[in-house]
Amino acid sequence: MALLSYTILFLIPLITTFLARTFFSKTRPQTRHLPPGPLALPIIGHMHLFSSSPHHVLCKLAQRYGPIISLRLGSVPHVVVSSPEAAREFLRTHELAFSSRPQSFTNHYLGYGGHGFAFSPYGPYWKFMRKLCMSELLSGRSLGNLLPIRREEMHTFLLLLSRASDGVKAVNVSEELKLMVGNVISRMSMSRRCYGTEAEGVEIGGLVDEVSKLLMALNVGDFIRLFRDMDLQGLGKRMKVTHKRFDEIMEEIVREHEEKKEKDGVKDLMDILLEISEDESAEMKLKKEHIKAFIRDIFVAGTATTALGMEWTLSELIKNPRIIKRARDEIDSVVGKNRVVEESDIPNLPYIQAIVKETLRLHPTDSIILRESIEDCKINGYDIPAKTGLFINIWAIGRDPNYWENPLEFLPERFIDDNGRAQIDLRGQHYHFLPFGSGRRGCPGKTLAVQLIVTTIAAMIQCFKLKIDGNDEEEGGPIDMTVAPGLTLYRAQPLVCIPVARLDPLPLVAS
Ligand code: HEM
Repeated sequence: MALLSYTILFLIPLITTFLARTFFSKTRPQTRHLPPGPLALPIIGHMHLFSSSPHHVLCKLAQRYGPIISLRLGSVPHVVVSSPEAAREFLRTHELAFSSRPQSFTNHYLGYGGHGFAFSPYGPYWKFMRKLCMSELLSGRSLGNLLPIRREEMHTFLLLLSRASDGVKAVNVSEELKLMVGNVISRMSMSRRCYGTEAEGVEIGGLVDEVSKLLMALNVGDFIRLFRDMDLQGLGKRMKVTHKRFDEIMEEIVREHEEKKEKDGVKDLMDILLEISEDESAEMKLKKEHIKAFIRDIFVAGTATTALGMEWTLSELIKNPRIIKRARDEIDSVVGKNRVVEESDIPNLPYIQAIVKETLRLHPTDSIILRESIEDCKINGYDIPAKTGLFINIWAIGRDPNYWENPLEFLPERFIDDNGRAQIDLRGQHYHFLPFGSGRRGCPGKTLAVQLIVTTIAAMIQCFKLKIDGNDEEEGGPIDMTVAPGLTLYRAQPLVCIPVARLDPLPLVAS
């Protein structure tokens, strides 16, 4: 009996491979020249390579097969790009052809039937939402108007650290940073705090985390037709629970906004979206589902990424006493000790900016950029068909030894010139440094993210020394830098520190 089962198990892939070969050799033109890649397994193709840390696995494959590789996830063709030159070809020379994103069932479901924005296909709806997002939330003018929110939330965070800064109490810094960033984004978009607010019944932090994990999970059903309705990984069940709760909270916030509409006051993003939804002559007819999905996307795209940027920067600083000392010297000479760092100080803090860039080079929070081709194209002599998924391994690109000297070392100095001026910007024009992506689908939140990360880190190290819980010494002791598995580079363990006061922020922020 056992022998029979093994024989069947052996025969299934063999027969499938034979049938697939016969089928493809008859239906596909033989002239198509695809990039090289490893042998695909029957049915699953290369899905097994995506089990734990895909950026590592794909980086190793690039060393063997080159900077442009072909893979197949189930029946869906993909290319993997792992060098700055190749990234330039895909993101600049063929920018328009790769301006879409792959469509997944999770995104369709959680995005109210595909009404999201960050993962939406390239087209008029995406263009409209992108313009709106840039003008009403993330433009220089909007960011300027919303500065008091960011300042208040940062001060609340500093005061929390200050209350715990007796040199004994440990603070889960990862958790507190996430609350701070989440509340900045929720106040900027909906005028209310939605993180750490269980008591008020509008807590969305855990839901946003779960949505992010679901969106980043590789859903077998998206790639293998046979498994489409089977929910083999249990993602469908998790999606339903999360979506229902998220929707209830969003409904309540929409209702609040509709009720206060008649009253005067500053309009937030949700007010503006609701106004457009009622405007018969608007360029795009928005439904309530579009609004909820859009705001969900802003949370998913902006919260964990920015908080992680801060966590990894702090981790690297605590690990490197020489660098943290130079950073503090810069702050003390530019800002002094009579006030807390402000966003307006950023242009005068090139070393802190360099520290943040160096962190994002080594720990780009999204290790891989996901895109999809909208038309057939030919790149470096290879045929890339329409609807091919594209993975750009920005983690590997940021460690490419052809572009970075001692790539594994944390050296912020590489981002300043001999005169101490900042160099290599974050706009996505330097294809060896792409933490925010590039081109029309590049991150619209980069200015906000950098403002938040630089100011918060500078204020933290200005006011406190940070001792890792369990270490004898302040800063410079051992620190766990393990990365959790997955496409988003979370720390495997939260960053837990004991803050030791250096400067009391209370009188400084109260004045
Ligand atoms: C350190 C923080 C952040 C990092 C590292 C980051 C990184 C990225 C990356 C790599 C992409 C894909 C780019 C591409 O395809 O070329 C992206 C897209 C996006 N990001 Fe960010 N991001 C951060 C913060 C934010 C913030 C604060 C927001 C908004 C509040 C935001 C909103 C978005 C949106 C909406 C998209 C999708 C854009 C589109 O498809 O048109 N991000 N981000």
